[in-house]
Amino acid sequence: MKEHVPVMVNEVLEALRPWEEVGTVVDATLGLGGHSGYILGNCANAYVIGFDQDPFAREVAGTNLSRYSGRFEVIADNFRHIEKLAERPGWTGASAVLFDLGVSNMQITEPERGFSFQGSGPLDMRMDASEETNSRMTAKDILNGSSVKELTEIFRKYGEEEHAYRIALGIVRKREAGELLETTDDLVRLIREVLPAPVQRKMGGHPARKVFQALRIAVNDEINALEEALDGALKVLKPGGKILAMSYHSLEDRMVKTKFREWEEQGVGRSSPRKAITPSEEEIESNNKSRSAKLRIFVSDKETSGKGDKADAIHRMPT
Ligand SMILES: C[S@@+](CC[C@H](N)C(=O)[O-])C[C@H]1O[C@@H](n2cnc3c(N)ncnc32)[C@H](O)[C@@H]1O
Repeated sequence: MKEHVPVMVNEVLEALRPWEEVGTVVDATLGLGGHSGYILGNCANAYVIGFDQDPFAREVAGTNLSRYSGRFEVIADNFRHIEKLAERPGWTGASAVLFDLGVSNMQITEPERGFSFQGSGPLDMRMDASEETNSRMTAKDILNGSSVKELTEIFRKYGEEEHAYRIALGIVRKREAGELLETTDDLVRLIREVLPAPVQRKMGGHPARKVFQALRIAVNDEINALEEALDGALKVLKPGGKILAMSYHSLEDRMVKTKFREWEEQGVGRSSPRKAITPSEEEIESNNKSRSAKLRIFVSDKETSGKGDKADAIHRMPT
């Protein structure tokens, strides 16, 4: 059975109390069904609607959750379309929407997906490479088709890579010399070539890490998708419902924090707790991937969220 060790499971479950009152939960990033499995196992009345744009993840999640058959459904779509749930006949709103952003271990450890600087594979990085989205650019298309300025911006904006310009210039010079980047190895080699050894030593981590992150975010349009999904999530919540957003890098966390603050100013709910929750030391020790995780929780107001709005208004109408 393929697994992904879910991050901050206890913290997620604590935030969902009282468990017997949990109804529909939208798992926007179903992955291999790790969080969903715990939710279904602990919240007797929970029904999970799980989104994933990755066909392999959906298949594995279906198998991993099979013992909860009838209590979950899997949706093959980008979570940016989450808002569509509110159009379902009889939709009464979700108790919670969970985001566990980024990629799963399964995606990273399969070299042919091209996500990892550690394995050797084609420069793809599309989470969804299905027929319908086949027109979407791969990492290779971006690397071999963008100008120095465009590449610099991608590496800076999405990877916060200090040496963005130098790496972008190296890529374009290689291309002009007739050498196109084909594989993850080609890209790692190029980054190692253009960055002097003392610079690489100071980077604290693999010298290609931030460039790979930046490309993945660009290929999958992750920041725009997240912004749309957060707005949609607020609309599908029931009054008093919660959004739980777990991010692994500052760009995503900033987006979540800013959205929650804006909503609070608009009076539609509040962040609770005020600050991000981080994993315990024990969890970081046992699952290194959790070290950068930040979980933020937004609780919508009883009166003002999505559909509940209308339901409340009807109840309050004078008879
Ligand atoms: C970190 S994993 C989630 C792991 C999951 N919580 C678990 O415990 O198994 C993130 C998952 O979200 C999916 N994903 C990322 N961005 C997405 C998007 N915009 N729409 C739909 N799925 C997305 C990825 O394909 C991946 O399977």
